[in-house]
Formats: sequence, structure tokens, C-alpha cells
Amino acid sequence: MKEYNIAILGATGAVGRTMIKILEERNFPIKDLKLFASSASVGKIIRFKNKEIPVQEITNDSFVNLDIVFGAVGNDLAKKFAPEIVKSGAIFIDNSSAFRLQDDIPLIIPEINPEDVQHHNGIIANPNCATIIGLMACYPIHKINPIKKITVSTYQAVSGAGNKGIDELEDQTYKLSNNQKNITFSVFPQQIAFNLIPQIGEFEKNGYSKEEMKFVHESRKILHSSEFEVNCTCVRVPVIRCHSESITLECTNEIELNKIKNVLKKFNGIKLYEPYPTPLECNDQDLIYVGRIRKDPFNSYTVNLWCCGDQLRKGAATNAIQIAELLIHDKSL
Ligand SMILES: NC(=O)c1ccc[n+]([C@@H]2O[C@H](COP(=O)([O-])OP(=O)(O)OC[C@H]3O[C@@H](n4cnc5c(N)ncnc54)[C@H](OP(=O)(O)O)[C@@H]3O)[C@@H](O)[C@H]2O)c1
Repeated sequence: MKEYNIAILGATGAVGRTMIKILEERNFPIKDLKLFASSASVGKIIRFKNKEIPVQEITNDSFVNLDIVFGAVGNDLAKKFAPEIVKSGAIFIDNSSAFRLQDDIPLIIPEINPEDVQHHNGIIANPNCATIIGLMACYPIHKINPIKKITVSTYQAVSGAGNKGIDELEDQTYKLSNNQKNITFSVFPQQIAFNLIPQIGEFEKNGYSKEEMKFVHESRKILHSSEFEVNCTCVRVPVIRCHSESITLECTNEIELNKIKNVLKKFNGIKLYEPYPTPLECNDQDLIYVGRIRKDPFNSYTVNLWCCGDQLRKGAATNAIQIAELLIHDKSL
């Protein structure tokens, strides 16, 4: 089997480290793995299979001879390095939101729109983590009973803001548990320990946060539908890992619960989990768990559900690696 030269930008971060673990778990065919991070991480050693790989800083010739570069850095760095990566001939699979809505860049959830992978020009975007988890739960239902409108409230873990999000929750929790008064915050806009915050990202002019509007725009792009209505509220909660979502779906035809449960049970990537999953149960695995499936008591076209998924895995690292696997199986690489 052909083997590939791979690099990860942001290899020391929450997504980057998860990616290294999953590349090993899935036995991705790697010839050489390069790990890049900031200058602060140069010299760190990360274990991959039986090798110890030193973390490097990005230089002018970092991307030479690479087949795939996985991006696990913020938007600014993704935008800065993307042209160099594409010029070098590698394919950039990016986790940031820098390119997601660009027309010539595919935005892929492999279980939903794998065919879009063929239309890339060197960059492929991984959707937002809350969008991936929510759409995975909605799509099987959409296939048997087209959805007109999604109303979703998210309950998003602090690791969604990276390693520093985890540190901030742990630091505040320790201080509050030890009667210390000097609570500080910089990652989240308010204290997150023993609290929740109905804001993720800046607010836009329409009153919705950036994270909420990502769900709207990205789900329309993935489903190739500009008519699809999405109404989203994103909330940060003091959970370390795994996002949860409460979703209401308004469908075209009357809801038949048995059919919905059956289609969810059979869908690759979903676990029907009744009565309900919690974030702790979904930790460190790739399935989206779905429960609390019930009809709206006043509208026979509407169904409610609850889902949880590991946003570092299926919401980021696993989805990106599945995209790379599509490229390999497609023989376009
Ligand atoms: N966390 C999630 O659940 C999640 C889900 C979906 C998408 N994403 C997206 O994935 C990306 C990474 O997020 P994350 O949560 O993994 O963030 P993170 O934990 O803060 O990690 C950021 C990574 O970027 C590296 N970095 C920072 N400055 C750099 C520089 N100048 N040159 C090279 N590397 C540099 C960091 O290296 P050092 O360790 O050396 O600082 C670290 O490896 C972001 O775009 C985020 O929006 C995150």
C-alpha cells in the first residue's frame, strides 16, 4: 500500500494531539510524519507508534515533499501558511474556520457529502465541531423525511477553545474549591467554573454569535441547500470534553418515531443511545450518541432529540483524517 508524507500544524494543541493519536489508531499509511508548533514547543518530543518525533518550528522549506498537511492552528496561521502548502503540491485539510465558506473550497462531513472532496483546489475545510455533531444526528432523519428547519441549542465543552480552555476551567475550579477569591478569566468572557455562558465568539450585528452563524452557513453548504432554516443558540458549559446539543427538527412529512429510530440505528457514525447520552459517556470515541427522541406534543411534523459527541475527535481530528482517507481511496492522491 502506498504511504504518505504527512504534517500536522499545531501538533501540540488539543486537536493536533488528538490527530496524532487517531492517525496511529487508524493505522493511516504514513511514510513520514512532521510535527509543527510554535517556537515555544520546539524540542518537545511526541511519541507516534514506536518513534519519537521532535516538534519543529515552521520554516520556508517545511512543506516540501509533503502529501497532506493537517491544519490544527487558528485562522490567521491557517491563512498565512495555506498558499505555501498548496504551492508545494500538498493538500491542506484545515480545522480552522478560515476557508470553510469559500465557494471553491469543499466543506466535508464524510458520512454526508463525501463526493464534494473531488472538487478541491488544494484546500479542504473541516466543518465547525458543533455543526459536525448536530448535522450527523440530523442527516439520517433528513434522508427519510426532509428537514425544513433546525432549532438547536448547544452545550459546548471548554476544550472546544483548545488547551487553554481546559486550563482556565481547572484553575477556576481549584480556586473556588479552596476558597480562593482571585478568580481570573481570559479565554472565556466570564467565569466558566460553576457557571455557563451563552456566548461563543463575538456577536454579529444580527445578535447571533459567530459560532451560531457558523452552524447556519456551514450546514447549508454541506447539505447544498440555501433554503434550509437554522436557528442556533451556542452555550459554553463547564464540561472538559464532548459537546451536547438539544435539537428540534421541523420535517416535511408526519413524524414516525420508529422509522426515525431505525434509520439512526443503521447510520454509520451514529449510536442510538436511549434514554440519553451524557458528555462523559461519549469521551474519546468517534460516534455521535443520540437519545431523548420524542415527537412535539403539538405538532406532528416536529421531532426533538438530544445528542452528544467528542468534538476533539469526530468534531475535528477524526473528521479531518476521514477526509484524508477519502482522498486516498479516491486515488486522487
Ligand atoms: N478544540 C476543538 O474542539 C476544536 C474543534 C474544531 C476545530 N478546532 C479548530 O482547530 C484549531 C486548533 O484548535 P485547538 O483547540 O487545538 O487549539 P490549541 O489547543 O490552542 O492549539 C493551538 C496549536 O497551534 C500552535 N501554534 C500557536 N502559534 C503557532 C505558531 N506561531 N506557529 C505554529 N504553531 C502555532 C500551538 O503550538 P504551541 O503549543 O507551541 O503554542 C498549538 O499546537 C483552531 O482553528 C480551532 O478553531 C478546534
